[in-house]
Amino acid sequence: MNNLESILTENRVFPPNPAFAAKARIGSRAAYDALVAEANSDYEGFWARLAREFVTWDTPFSTVLDESNAPHYRWFTEGKLNASVNCIDRHLPTKASKIAIIAEADDGSVREITYQQLHDQVVALANGLKSLGITQGDRVVIYMPMIPEASIAMLACARIGAIHSVVFGGFSAEALRDRINDTGARLVITADGGMRGGRMVPLKAAVDKAIENGCPNIEQVVVFERLGNATLMAERDITWSALTAGQPTTCPPVMVDAEHPLFLLYTSGSTGKPKGVQHATGGFLVNAAMTNAWVFDLNDDDVYWCTADVGWITGHSYVTYGPMALGVTQVMFEGIPSYPDGGRFWQMIERHKVSVFYTAPTAIRALMKLGDEVPAKSDLSSLRLLGTVGEPINPEAWMWYHRVIGGERCPIADTWWQTETGAHMIAPLPGAIATKPGSCTLPLPGIMAAIVNDEGELIGPNQGGNLVITRPWPSMIRTIWGDDARFQRSYFPEKLKGYYLAGDSARRDNEGYFWIMGRIDDVLNVSGHRLGTMEIESALVAHPLVAEAAVVGKPHEIKGESIVAFVVCKGDRPEGVAAEAMVKTLRDWVAEQIGPIAKPDEIRFGDNLPKTRSGKIMRRLLRGIAKGELPEGDVSTLENPAILEQLLGK
Ligand code: WTA
Repeated sequence: MNNLESILTENRVFPPNPAFAAKARIGSRAAYDALVAEANSDYEGFWARLAREFVTWDTPFSTVLDESNAPHYRWFTEGKLNASVNCIDRHLPTKASKIAIIAEADDGSVREITYQQLHDQVVALANGLKSLGITQGDRVVIYMPMIPEASIAMLACARIGAIHSVVFGGFSAEALRDRINDTGARLVITADGGMRGGRMVPLKAAVDKAIENGCPNIEQVVVFERLGNATLMAERDITWSALTAGQPTTCPPVMVDAEHPLFLLYTSGSTGKPKGVQHATGGFLVNAAMTNAWVFDLNDDDVYWCTADVGWITGHSYVTYGPMALGVTQVMFEGIPSYPDGGRFWQMIERHKVSVFYTAPTAIRALMKLGDEVPAKSDLSSLRLLGTVGEPINPEAWMWYHRVIGGERCPIADTWWQTETGAHMIAPLPGAIATKPGSCTLPLPGIMAAIVNDEGELIGPNQGGNLVITRPWPSMIRTIWGDDARFQRSYFPEKLKGYYLAGDSARRDNEGYFWIMGRIDDVLNVSGHRLGTMEIESALVAHPLVAEAAVVGKPHEIKGESIVAFVVCKGDRPEGVAAEAMVKTLRDWVAEQIGPIAKPDEIRFGDNLPKTRSGKIMRRLLRGIAKGELPEGDVSTLENPAILEQLLGK
């Protein structure tokens, strides 16, 4: 990881919009610098202040940070709190009739839920769970469509101190079973089905299959009647409505220790079985609420929409806990961006007057491909801020988002963070920090990010290396559920001096801005030059005929690795002579954009790329395909398995 070469130069700079900055919570670079200085001079005092500002404690904490059992850091110990109280009860005196959730279903029908109604439903379900014998510390798996009841289920668990583990509704029965068993959950909360793009997602059937294949601990399944067609398995199943009917209208919240696990969330490593990332109640809530307020600059009159599913960390921090801790109104969407047509997101922004919109680069690129005419049909003037997360955003996609969706007036918050970090780590404060397309900009105040070599030594500007966080922060991963050793090995490898290893490579520019170059294991080594795949992909996507690109290395006798690019073109997939011509065009283009060293040796065209359900390109599979092998092993997390054969040319 020493001296990773950086070859992408992006010179455009967008200073904060003055009209935006004038009203922002943190409205100038000086205000940002002051917060950074505060954190530097009194780290614990800084976090204690924010913990008191953003979270309501039942018993105040006395220790801010306990490092005695590092790297299992403990935050806000002796403090007690309840996450559902922070997300609901404390708003009721002033906001009982405020809309918490505007839920748009796949078919376009809309439900609105106030904070009072949210309270009543969470309490009813929490009492129902108690009646099933669920108590503090029990694990509950949630496998739901993207509907308000998913958040209600999470909050009901939190209310009684149960630990939830949400499994994305797009995962297979197999993946679900493995996660259920790893958590040791006694209960699953699911729905009879969900709707995505006009098609039924048979969630209950998947739960049944998972249990049939062996989930020895599961005693009961709660089924929300989304479609009204559930097949109940006598003993084991109970409908949500039967469980909640006639329950008391109050449910005393269980005040848990700050370190009590709020949830487990499984995330894939590059190898091995999924890791159950464990988050703690107090610290998680502090960072989730604080970043929602600072990075998205949320106010009482905003209509906020994060398009992530609750099955991902983004749905935990920026759908359920963060926005609800702040008491904002948010849109929740069951469906997909392309149904009934590619204008759905933009129509919804107009319909609900969304002011803050947060989505992923993969969605932005897909929608960009449809042309500017599509968003032009909707009135997007309610928007005031745009966010992105999940992977590096190519400068071209950033510019499109800025120009066509943001009308050149909305700041773009490119937020770098991970399941393990729990909340935004590196992201622009929109009223304070000038943005550069493709950069997640600067660490948030209180986040000590750095770039180091493999020995943990700091390296200078414009050299790529390991992205690390040098000090613990409140919402950090506490452990991998049931595997402390793997936790330590994966995130705090000995050589790195106790720094948290993110597993991403990045560089800082002369102004200290961070540019994420990709995951460490995606790094190419071509003729002794280390190249981040991201930069070559960005160059490819910058070509007017290219919609999407992924680059991997393939072993090469002389050069170490040769570069193989998988490209999705705008319009039809080129074949025959047209493909040959396009290959030449793109190779010359990359040579021109970056230099001959980055020229792909091989380019293959597909209608799409193999992606995880969360939209991440699976480079591991592409590396196999580049070598001419159909991947062995588990492809069950793949959105579109058929694409593998096409890319292989079979
Ligand atoms: C990548 C999602 C560049 C990165 C919140 C990270 C990003 C991984 C960005 C975590 C960004 C996320 N720019 N890369 N703004 N955001 N990533 O756990 O490689 O699903 O390590 O969390 O996504 O993915 P995860």
